[in-house]
Amino acid sequence: MEDKARVAVMVSGGGTNLQALIDAQRAGLIEKGEIVLVISNREGAYAVERAEKAGIETHVVTRKACGGQEGFEAKCKELIDAHNIDLIVLAGFMVILSKDFVSYYDHKIINIHPSLIPAFCGDGFYGIIPHQEALKRGVKVTGASVHYVNEIADGGEIIAQKAVNVEEGDTPEILQRRVMEQAEWLILPVAVAKICRKIVKERS
Ligand code: GRF
Repeated sequence: MEDKARVAVMVSGGGTNLQALIDAQRAGLIEKGEIVLVISNREGAYAVERAEKAGIETHVVTRKACGGQEGFEAKCKELIDAHNIDLIVLAGFMVILSKDFVSYYDHKIINIHPSLIPAFCGDGFYGIIPHQEALKRGVKVTGASVHYVNEIADGGEIIAQKAVNVEEGDTPEILQRRVMEQAEWLILPVAVAKICRKIVKERS
């Protein structure tokens, strides 16, 4: 049986980045990795539907059902460890993970952030906000970044970035969509493929 890195994807919303990973895997672009687990922290997130349609084992783990952040992280750890996960991908995932959780999976968690770090990142910069701030500041170029997750919000080592032009008349929503289409959905699968190759190579 071919050795593949086992990938878990954590989601909260529409799941377009998860879909990009699913499509890339189907197209054979993540040859040394396999998405074997999806965890959503929100009931009804469309990302859950995308994962189920792709036949990936999917769990909805809410902080409410787990009695708070600690129980939530314990349940996530249980699922992740039971699946022998090699790489955790935060894809549109909106929960801040504790220092404990992040250090437990040191250098095993990556995130896609919708700006060119170190611009428009850190505490409070998530979802549409980086795009609102980019337009407010009047930058001509923004983009997306894939980075390792450490205890500092968006502070881990940068793995990949892609720049996207800001156009005349952009609204935050239009800019967000362009950054997703022209950057996020491209660099995340490439980064996951690269890391999976490295994981498999290092253990062979
Ligand atoms: C995207 O802007 C992503 O960069 C951010 O969350 C938004 C939704 O992502 N992290 P998705 O469609 O749920 O993947």
